[in-house]
Amino acid sequence: MALKIEGLSAREILDSRGYPTVEVDLQVSGQWVRASVPSGASTGSHEALELRDGEEKRYLGKGVRACLGHLKTLTSKLFAEPFESPEAFDRWLIAEDGTENKSKFGANTLLPLSMAMHRAAASVAQKPLFEYLHETYFKDRPLITPIPMMNVINGGKHADNGIQIQEFMVCPRLSDEASMGDRIRAGAEIYHHLKRLLKQEGYSTNVGDEGGFAPNLADEQEALSIISEATTQAGYQLGTEVYLALDSASNEFFEDEKYLLHQEFPPMTSDALIEKYNDLLEQFPALISFEDALQEDDWDSWKRFTDGLKESHPHVMVVGDDLLVTHPKRLKRAIDGGNCNAILIKINQIGTISETAETMNQAFASNFQTVVSHRSGETEDPFIAHLVTGSGAGWLKSGAPCRTDRTSKYNELLRIFN
Ligand code: PGA
Ligand code: ZN
Repeated sequence: MALKIEGLSAREILDSRGYPTVEVDLQVSGQWVRASVPSGASTGSHEALELRDGEEKRYLGKGVRACLGHLKTLTSKLFAEPFESPEAFDRWLIAEDGTENKSKFGANTLLPLSMAMHRAAASVAQKPLFEYLHETYFKDRPLITPIPMMNVINGGKHADNGIQIQEFMVCPRLSDEASMGDRIRAGAEIYHHLKRLLKQEGYSTNVGDEGGFAPNLADEQEALSIISEATTQAGYQLGTEVYLALDSASNEFFEDEKYLLHQEFPPMTSDALIEKYNDLLEQFPALISFEDALQEDDWDSWKRFTDGLKESHPHVMVVGDDLLVTHPKRLKRAIDGGNCNAILIKINQIGTISETAETMNQAFASNFQTVVSHRSGETEDPFIAHLVTGSGAGWLKSGAPCRTDRTSKYNELLRIFN
């Protein structure tokens, strides 16, 4: 199928935090499609480069007109020849950029083109995007109903409370056969029970960047306790129907080789922090996933944590986000070294869809659990709902069941699995 680019129009739009991001309209073989890119706050230092203008007077330096300039420069070349597939198109983009981390054009210039081209190819093939992605990259994977990982209490860089751990999630699996609708409903019900409980206890129910509440709780035990109570009140069984998950985003509280989990306590060594996680697991056996529990280059501690859980809690996911940045090389190191057993997939960490698929297939081949993820700064583009479905990855992290930037992904899943 030759894909001929016939039109391109790009602009700055606002993301969910009110900062600009790139949106592209692409005309391919007669079809117009649209795509836009998300943006992180707790970004890993090994991610592909996100290009910002740095002009302090415009959007406090966060403008993306440089990306629009690059798109303009690329236009005549893009129009010249048809591409045989979206993969070939991605390869061409990667070669044009020519850098290790997409630093010539920026991942936020390349990714919307790559997303749009995949969407266009699906449209030309008259298939839904998830089906196209499945046939193109993940043919042998079973298509399963994903489990949402809903971030119901926000901390860290996504909120102004004193909690360092960035995300406290509920994962409503219910049962293997449960429908998408029932899973999402369970998450939303727990969310509303949690709101009521927080109100009762006199806490704020204002929300953070990912739609979760951002109360000034004392610590992570209190957060997990109140979420547990909300789950029970909603009528769900913890540990069988609903699991708990954490994203520590621990880079953000790593200073001078130590972890500052609580302002009032002395900084912790990695071993002390690992012990803390093990204690939490004892207290809250429904915990199923620890993401970025340790700092992005603290490979040895990651291994100690993973090894320690192997015997006692083989089902627990140790998820590399900033550690792996959706990059095949870092993933290979973790597979070879046994530093974790699961990967977070963020399309803008690597910058193209075909490279994302390559990393995912590498993870599947090594039996790594695979979680497809949004960013804390999102747009209304639901691409990742199709990616998690088409790949059979099994887990989708898209924040709370609240705020359109988050629900746009869950709602797309409701449409896909209707
Ligand atoms: P970010 O947060 O998008 O701000 O990086 C999400 C995450 O850490 O998983
Ligand atoms: Zn993370």
